[in-house]
Amino acid sequence: MDTLTVNEQPHEAPRPQRNLLSYLRFDLGLTGAKYGCGEGLCGACTILVDGQPLRACMTTVGAVAGGRLTTIEGLASDGALHPVQQAFVAEQAMQCGYCIPGFIMGTVGLLNREQHPSREQIREALAEHMCRCGTYVRIERAVQRVASEAAR
Ligand code: FES
Ligand code: FES
Repeated sequence: MDTLTVNEQPHEAPRPQRNLLSYLRFDLGLTGAKYGCGEGLCGACTILVDGQPLRACMTTVGAVAGGRLTTIEGLASDGALHPVQQAFVAEQAMQCGYCIPGFIMGTVGLLNREQHPSREQIREALAEHMCRCGTYVRIERAVQRVASEAAR
């Protein structure tokens, strides 16, 4: 039987072929990762596996067996929002909010790879995330804010 660590909690995953996004949302009740396109194109379902972004809609549970998974629910610690979450709040980057967990997880993954990303690196990392409300300018400002705070 496969074992997954999700937000530091071990889970036995009974069906390797189960879609990962469905498993997280319906079996574990972690509804932060969203279903958007279901085809890997919008980024709404993005989570981290071993610190790097992954589209959960396109993945099976078996494919990430043994991995360390983080969903948006696992970012805050000791009652405090993660710095990326704080920056999104500070820049009022959310409108409806549907896309935002994916953007935040994509940003955390970027900062795990590159502590001080350039504007081009930010745009490249988030290029395949879509926001139907069109808050891209504020989202970019939020990512730049957290990147510049990390540089201090
Ligand atoms: S729902 Fe997974 S990329 Fe759109
Ligand atoms: S804030 Fe509504 S889809 Fe992005």
